[in-house]
Amino acid sequence: MGSEMAPDFPSHLLELEALTRGQIEALLSLAARFKRERARARAGEAPSDRRGLLRGRNVITLFFENSTRTRSSFEVAAKALGADVLSFQKDASSVAKGESLEDTVRNLDAIGADALVVRHPAAGAPRLVARVVRASVINAGDGAHEHPTQGLLDALSLRERWGTVEGKTVAIVGDIAHSRVARSNVHLLSKFGAEIVLCGPASLLPCELAQLAPGVRLTTDIQDAIRDADVIMMLRVQLERQHEAAFPASEYFQFYGLRLEHMDLAKPDAIVMHPGPINRGRELSSEVADFQRSVILNQVENGVAVRMAVLERVIG
Ligand code: NCD
Repeated sequence: MGSEMAPDFPSHLLELEALTRGQIEALLSLAARFKRERARARAGEAPSDRRGLLRGRNVITLFFENSTRTRSSFEVAAKALGADVLSFQKDASSVAKGESLEDTVRNLDAIGADALVVRHPAAGAPRLVARVVRASVINAGDGAHEHPTQGLLDALSLRERWGTVEGKTVAIVGDIAHSRVARSNVHLLSKFGAEIVLCGPASLLPCELAQLAPGVRLTTDIQDAIRDADVIMMLRVQLERQHEAAFPASEYFQFYGLRLEHMDLAKPDAIVMHPGPINRGRELSSEVADFQRSVILNQVENGVAVRMAVLERVIG
């Protein structure tokens, strides 16, 4: 199994910014292999049992924010590799009694966690955890910083479509300012030579993001962003991270909502992506969400294979 992987993969996955193109490619190849094996096993052919890879390992998911896709796909991935999975419930734990993040994770470490999958509203929290525990830490989204496994599953979806993103134009539209998904995608896509257009209302489009990586352009005009794009990645408006209204909510869809007619501006085979959760009628119309070139559920499916690859790499 290890032969496909770059030998120097770090013991934590905190951000895509720090990974090389080679490390990312190796992870995606392993994820693609796990996905093929799972599809064969589900079709009743060649059952390939990977439950030996993490047998006896403890994976603890530690989510301080809500989640549907990320938490459940980490747990399915860990179980598919034979790990024991424990899901930490913030409100049922001693965090509700005032215990700090540092003390909480030191205790989970003492219980015998091999991997801690951490989602936290504060950017940098997984890095802090990694400093004080022996377990491997996987960032499952930290504030507006990064969401590395989302960037990886998006890349797997693009690779399945085109093999490479080199020279492809990816328009990322929405609440860029608060989006860890946008940041992880910018870091990954720029390492692979994609052109990236970030688009949103000026109040949600910090100009320093143009310096985040090579190949990034900013625009506040959705039509300009979508014109000739190969990929349109829509983002949710993260009202929970906005302390004051950044735009008139009732007008958002009119100016930044993706509608079917927008698709005529993009390349004829352009695809629509969204990390979820989607809000129909807010950032995209229901027709676009269910459009045949929308790959939103394919992204979700790829989340399991990508998280299997990440877990295997950090604690396998
Ligand atoms: C995103 C997240 O939590 O960062 N969702 C996800 O993990 N698939 C995006 C969002 O919440 O809008």
